[in-house]
Amino acid sequence: MTAGKKPIIIYGGSFDPPHRGHLALAAAALRQLKPQTLYFVPGFHTPFKDFRPVPFAERRAMLQAALAAAGLNRPDVKISSFEAGLKRVVYTYETVEHFRKLHPGSPLFFLLGSDCLGGFKEWRRWRSVLKSARLLAGLRPGYSLAAARGVPFTPLAGRFPRAASSDLRGALFLGRRPPELHGAVFARGRARGLYFARERAVLEKILTPARFRHSVETAALAVELAPLLGIPAQKAAAAGLVHDCARDLSFTALKKYARTRCRRAPFLGTMLKEAPVLLHAWAGAARARRLFGLRDAEIAEAIELHATGAPGMGPLARLIYVSDLAAAGRDFPEAKLVRKLAFRDFDAAFRAANYVKLTYAFSGGGWVHPLSVSLWNSLQEKKKG
Ligand SMILES: [Fe+2]
Ligand SMILES: [Fe+2]
Repeated sequence: MTAGKKPIIIYGGSFDPPHRGHLALAAAALRQLKPQTLYFVPGFHTPFKDFRPVPFAERRAMLQAALAAAGLNRPDVKISSFEAGLKRVVYTYETVEHFRKLHPGSPLFFLLGSDCLGGFKEWRRWRSVLKSARLLAGLRPGYSLAAARGVPFTPLAGRFPRAASSDLRGALFLGRRPPELHGAVFARGRARGLYFARERAVLEKILTPARFRHSVETAALAVELAPLLGIPAQKAAAAGLVHDCARDLSFTALKKYARTRCRRAPFLGTMLKEAPVLLHAWAGAARARRLFGLRDAEIAEAIELHATGAPGMGPLARLIYVSDLAAAGRDFPEAKLVRKLAFRDFDAAFRAANYVKLTYAFSGGGWVHPLSVSLWNSLQEKKKG
């Protein structure tokens, strides 16, 4: 270290979205080290199939809004485009190297929460990180600093909220503002259509208020159950939000739509005559593709099969099938039971959902879609096997 040079602090993360926890950690680091500069370094996001991650420019803008809200909009705090600009996954040792060259002779600190200390030795070339920089760790509840297991670090004074961007995104997908998020960041995301704000605005226009509410409630339950099935919250939210996007078309419009765009729907001819309401599932998948550019095959399957179910449906389809039936706001008594059951035993809830749907279908008289009956039979066979 060169005497006299003020420290440089590097703060990497996804910042998707930036939240109060990030800002509290940065503020404490600024207070304690009085650095020359603290750099926020938002990482590059790998696009996941057709899900567009929140682009760097948007995350930077949200970060600026958060900095302003937290009173940290000042010359010694900067947002670096180093990692995002490389357009690939960048390892911390590379980022540290970059700042070492940018500020030769300045003491470098790498800021992180104590939740990251435990896994530090799994980072690529972690020794090289420690050679160039010192870790600066803020204590987060539930993660003791002792978890560092021999990794040297400088502790930050204070305790810091345990907010995780991934948890906050679940609420954002539903249009709800988590308290850990600054109002300005929430407003910015919504104004830019991020976290499905654009999709929700379109749905609000094409659905009745009750249906829109049901769609958000279906997505909410799907997001809650998603981790139990290993499904990303984003996929669960997308499928839940849009599953009924064709449900408020008139029967005339729905039939026309299905005839032209859903020719491969099983038993299309019979549905057109006997149960046109079921067409909204297949029409919904086609409409979601057209309106929102959703081309993910699992999401399409989940929308297509949410009303009838089918043997062999994939995990996302099963999740939406259950969430649709058991969403908050469903006014039949079984909904609550299935909802409770889903958290304890998802497979049992899935079987129960099929039972409830079939019971209602049979009690109404008339034609029942063969896919629903096949699903029932396939579940009985599985039970015996
Ligand atoms: Fe539906
Ligand atoms: Fe629904």
